[in-house]
Amino acid sequence: MDVIEILRKASNKIYENVKDLAGTEDAAGDFGVGAGGDISRNIDIIAEKTVLDYLKEINFECVVLGEECGRVELSNKPKGFIIMDAIDGSANAVRGVPFFCSSLAFATEDKLSSITDGVITNLSNGEMYWASKNKGAFFNNKQIKVHKKNPIYKIVGINTSGASIELMNKLHPIFKNHDHVRHFGANALEMAMFARGLMDIFIDLRNKIRIQDIAAGYVIVKEAGGMLLDENLNPLDADLSYETRVSFIAAANQEILDEIMSQINN
Ligand code: IPD
Ligand code: CA
Repeated sequence: MDVIEILRKASNKIYENVKDLAGTEDAAGDFGVGAGGDISRNIDIIAEKTVLDYLKEINFECVVLGEECGRVELSNKPKGFIIMDAIDGSANAVRGVPFFCSSLAFATEDKLSSITDGVITNLSNGEMYWASKNKGAFFNNKQIKVHKKNPIYKIVGINTSGASIELMNKLHPIFKNHDHVRHFGANALEMAMFARGLMDIFIDLRNKIRIQDIAAGYVIVKEAGGMLLDENLNPLDADLSYETRVSFIAAANQEILDEIMSQINN
């Protein structure tokens, strides 16, 4: 089975196992601090176990880098890394806000730029975004592209959760100049929606986002024709370590990138 098929199957299984759990008291059960540094909730644990059980069942030889479970070596001859955020947007999932997803990616080396496959499933409705390197990005079975045309409403996505006052001051002109600034609370799903052309730019300059939250989005955005840059406007790359935190800018085209960058206070 191709890696993308494995990720799609695993992602579907997560959807089946958690779709009736979101927003219930059972979803919230506290399992202590996970490898990514946040409290692991019951819904996170169930979703991760679904993937680990499936990978073991099909004997997929890999190392799993899970947000809650940490590094799990499923083989001593691994083909690569499965980078797993089984529930991205855990707070939304626990509260029942219908905006949370799973994010699964495959990398051949310890680098974001070696990611070959990624799948993001919207767990509130089962819709799936997926991409393989050099093969395009898809939403369900339809190929997707970032929004290249001049939009009727310009939608600017900015992750500001826990942002410092310094960052908010830098970003203030963007808020002042744009009536449609958005942040929905699940980074991976926001990257997927950007790749589908529903936002023109999506930025996160907090230097807080973990590799698990961007890994699948990385290949989906690139395969949809998006620009994916770090805070210095170089191509985004990073190692896959648990300590790594990044900032990024996903832009549909040079024009919107230039416009937004020119509005950031330095
Ligand atoms: C979180 C979401 C959120 C972002 C946080 C992440 P999690 O992921 O992606 O949008 O603001 O930085 O931690 O914790 O729900 O997997
Ligand atoms: Ca998570």
